[in-house]
Amino acid sequence: MSRPLMARLDRLLANLGYGSRRDVQALVAGGQVTFDGAAIKDAGRKIAVTADLPLHLKIRGVPVDPPAPLILLMHKPLGVVCSHREDGERIYDLLPKRWRIRDPALSSVGRLDKDTSGLLLVTDDGDFLHRVISPKRHVPKVYRATLDRPLTGAEGAAFASGTLMLEGEDKPLLPAALEVLGEREARLTITEGRYHQVRRMFAAVGNHVVGLHRERIGGLVLPEDLGPGEHRILSAAQAEAVFDG
Ligand code: URA
Repeated sequence: MSRPLMARLDRLLANLGYGSRRDVQALVAGGQVTFDGAAIKDAGRKIAVTADLPLHLKIRGVPVDPPAPLILLMHKPLGVVCSHREDGERIYDLLPKRWRIRDPALSSVGRLDKDTSGLLLVTDDGDFLHRVISPKRHVPKVYRATLDRPLTGAEGAAFASGTLMLEGEDKPLLPAALEVLGEREARLTITEGRYHQVRRMFAAVGNHVVGLHRERIGGLVLPEDLGPGEHRILSAAQAEAVFDG
């Protein structure tokens, strides 16, 4: 096993959003930061940055947040945007305030539209993020779509063909699998992540998506007991299930 990264306590806690290094030094001077129950005396003490850090390091008796790499599975609600820059409520507003100033910063793994709900991964692990969205990996993403008009029966073949073109693009879509769930309800599995892909696919076959929800990415399924706006921290091993799909 490789040796854990070591970090100065003041820098580590500042990067986790607990304030400036000076703020952290004040917490230490006040005896409020403990490691395995003993107050830390030196804010410059080197600490091993391991996933179980919260079991050891506490501030006023409260376990610290997990260090990077952090991977979250979120149930994105409707009406919330994934972008840091867009106006309106952001997915980051649904997380603890401190996490907005973590360094490295958290980002969503790909995006869901404001009007799409469901499974969203959020991470500060750039390597994980790029592995999930890499076009070479073809990680399947499964959506449940509610449609404005009844399905005609021709959509499945069009989506599976590998020749469907989206408006304004010059490269056909990879084959996608459609499962009809009802007259205006379908489950669609895609392995790419083009802009508004599901909505544009149904538009390309003359329909209109009125509701969209992501149920699954690879081997990760949105848990039934995770309500809109809630999130769960995944261990590195749990997160790897995304590549088992
Ligand atoms: N396709 C869409 O059209 N919107 C999403 O949010 C995700 C996939």
